[in-house]
This record gives sequence, structure tokens and C-alpha cells, in this order.
Amino acid sequence: MKRGEHITLDIERLNAKGDGVGVCDGREVVVPRAVPGDRALVYLRRKRKGRFEGVVDDLIEPGVERIDPACVHFGVCGGCRWQDIEYDDQLKIKESLVHRLVAEQDLTAGSWRPILPSPQQNFYRNKMEFSFGSGPDGVPQLGLHMRGRYNRVFDLETCWLQSEVSNRIVDSVRSHATRLKLPVYDLRSHEGLLRFLVVRDAKRTGEVMVNLVVSSYPHDGVDDLLASVFEDLGRQITSCIVTKHSGLAQVAIGEEEFHIRGDGHMWERCGDIEYAISSRSFFQTNTLAAERLYETVCELAGDLTQSDVLDLYAGTGGMSLHLAQHARSVIGVESVSEAVVDARRNAERNEIGNCRFVSALAEDLLADATAEERRYDLVVVDPPRAGLHKKVIQGILDLGPDRFLYVSCNAESLAQDLAEFVSGGYEIQVAQPVDLFPHTPHCEVITSLIRTPSWQR
Ligand SMILES: C[S@@+](CC[C@H](N)C(=O)[O-])C[C@H]1O[C@@H](n2cnc3c(N)ncnc32)[C@H](O)[C@@H]1O
Repeated sequence: MKRGEHITLDIERLNAKGDGVGVCDGREVVVPRAVPGDRALVYLRRKRKGRFEGVVDDLIEPGVERIDPACVHFGVCGGCRWQDIEYDDQLKIKESLVHRLVAEQDLTAGSWRPILPSPQQNFYRNKMEFSFGSGPDGVPQLGLHMRGRYNRVFDLETCWLQSEVSNRIVDSVRSHATRLKLPVYDLRSHEGLLRFLVVRDAKRTGEVMVNLVVSSYPHDGVDDLLASVFEDLGRQITSCIVTKHSGLAQVAIGEEEFHIRGDGHMWERCGDIEYAISSRSFFQTNTLAAERLYETVCELAGDLTQSDVLDLYAGTGGMSLHLAQHARSVIGVESVSEAVVDARRNAERNEIGNCRFVSALAEDLLADATAEERRYDLVVVDPPRAGLHKKVIQGILDLGPDRFLYVSCNAESLAQDLAEFVSGGYEIQVAQPVDLFPHTPHCEVITSLIRTPSWQR
């Protein structure tokens, strides 16, 4: 078996990233977009660290039925992986992946609840980050990254993930950038201007925030570009920010922010709570599904009337403020100071007086809490994809709350962390997957744990 060959492969499972995996001649072959049960003619595209990566040339026998994807960019775009699979089948595949990753750590949950679907399968995202690239003759491109090519962008016509207005903003920015001959930032020479366009589109309030990330500002060309975009979109853009980012890192955050329209944030409603979200702050990207997530977190938290809750990784207070409506008190802990400012503003706006936000690293706060022997009836964590820092796991085990909720967007890191809690004396009572990311292999999982008699400080 070697690179460039075709093989017939049976896909046996998904890896943690959601790619299909089969075995041929004793070697693993990873095939993006293939799913268990597929038998396919696979072209071996490359070999890395003894493992082959292939692409499906011909689907001989599908594991699940395939449908025509709505999006013209499907296959090229690095965004959606499963647009050609019925949503019900996507849910089944995700659910079994989550179950398997947890079982692989020798863990069992008291009960697994069926996955909760996303209320919307298309146009569900409230945030998209578009990248600029250079086409032939340096003409600006604006769109998403090509699958597996982190330095290649394709021109986006229509994306099915955010909204119609977001597609029009992309189109308007690209056409005026071309007309004004504005240069795109070049990753190798580090010259040029245009870097990213971030569109936030609030699903419940209709507010739209545009954040243009450029290498230099003030800049007349950027002002002309935005004036033309405002002419095209009118007041549909409710807030606009220019972020100056002259550093080398390819990220859509920078050293200075200029408020061109509005005062730097957008309002969104999730459940009955209103949230201010500014450019650097985290907010769940699927507002409608986040309502289900928060509702379920509150339900699994149980009766909180006499409870003091510690919510680690609080973002703009998404979960903390929902929990505070039921609890005696909540402390939300977040490392990004702008998000903490938003969270405090959100508590005030919604007149939630029993919720306080602390700007700190979760690991530092836990070290102080343990040293001062503070008590919390419930600890909630919702870390980034990488999962919990070792010190956070140890900190929670030292604190020893009776009840503990772990919310995760990455079942692989969740399962690894849960294994530590189980060997530290906790038991998984309930696990509930919630889909916030249709057309991708990802979902959120809420797990509810209780302390058992085997726990020791
Ligand atoms: C997945 S988000 C959770 C947000 C929140 N629970 C919600 O539902 O909106 C993770 C958050 O953790 C924050 N964060 C990352 N590392 C952190 C750390 N070491 N300590 C505290 N917060 C951290 C990020 O800035 C981000 O806002």
C-alpha cells in the first residue's frame, strides 16, 4: 500500500475529530467525511507518521444514505463536514461517537439521555470569521479556508451557516475592497492591509456586528470601504469595529479597537436573558440551541434554592446568569477581562443581583478557594476544547463539591478529564449530549457528577 494508490476500504469507526477510519493491510487509513458502515474506493492522498489519509473516490456502499448538499462549496470548504447526511443520521453518528469516547476510558454513566437536536440546522450560527486571501493578480478574496489548507481561502458565494445578511456583508466587503484596490495581508511578507472579517448576527434581537481586522488603522482606504458597505447594508449593521492587528499571529484579535458604529458590542437574547457581547468575548455560537443547553444545565443542577454555585469558564455569563435565576448565589470566573466587563453589565441589565463575576484563571481561583476552605454546593465547568488544566482537576477534587456539572464541546478531552474525576471519587450520574453544531461531528455534552463515599481530600 502506498501513496497515490486506490484501495477498497470499510470504514469501521470515527476518530475523535470525526473522520472515518478503516484498516487496510494492518494500517489505519483516515478518510474525512466517511462514516462507519461506508465501503468506498479510497485514493491514498498522503502518508503521515505511518498513517494514511485518503479521500473517497467512489462510495461503493454507503453506511448511511447521502443527500445532495445545499451548499455549493461543500467538499471544498473546511466548515461543514456532513451537509450530505440527513440531520437525523448526523445526530445518531455524533451520539455514538460520544458514547464510544467515554466508554474507551472505561467509564459508565448512570444514564445517557438521547441527544437534543439543534432547533435550526441551517443559518444557526451567530458568529462567523471570514479570512481574506489573494486571488490571481492580487485581487482580494474573502471567504473561508479550504479543507485542510490553512493558508488557502476561497471566495464565498453563500454560506448556509450564518444568515442571508452575513452573506450580503461578505459580498459587499469583497466587491468594494476590489474596487478600491485594497491590498490583502500576505502571510509570508507580512505586508498588506486586509486580514479578517468577523460578522456577529444576533438571532433573537436582529443586531449585527461587523469587525474588520486590518494591519493598520487609521487608514483612508478602510474608511472608504466601510462607508460603501454601510451604503449597501444601511442600518442593518448595528455596530462596526475596526481592529488593528499588526502582529504576526493569524488571529482575528489585535492591539487596538476603533468603534466606527455603536459602542463596541451587540445585544443578543438567550432564553429570557439579554447579553452584551463585545468583540473579544465568548458567546455560544448557536443561540437557539444554547437556550436548550442552559435549560438542561439548570434542570440537571437540581434544586438550587439553598445553593452557592461556582461557574468556572463563565464567558459573558451565559450559564452563570441562567443558574443565578435558581440559586442562592453564583460566582462566575473568566480569564478574558472584556468578557468579565460584559458579564457584569449583563447581570446589571437583567437585574440579577445574586451573581458576581471574577476576572481570574480558574486554576488560580481554585487554589485560593481551597486554601481559604470556601464551600460551594455545586461547581460547573465549561472549558475550551482542550479541556481542564491538571491544576483545575486537582483544585475541584480538593474542593470536593457534592455535585459537579461538566459541560464540554469536545467529547475526547471530556472523557479523559472524567476519568480523573471518577478515580478521584466521583460518579457520573447523567450524560446529555446537545447538538449546537449541525453539519459537523461536534456537539456539547453535559455530564452531572456526584461525590461518592470513596472521595478523599
Ligand atoms: C467554552 S467557553 C464557556 C462560556 C460560558 N460557559 C457560556 O456558556 O457562554 C470557555 C470560556 O473560558 C474562558 N477561559 C479559557 N481559559 C480559562 C482559564 N484558564 N480560566 C478561566 N477562564 C478561561 C474563555 O475565555 C471562554 O470565555
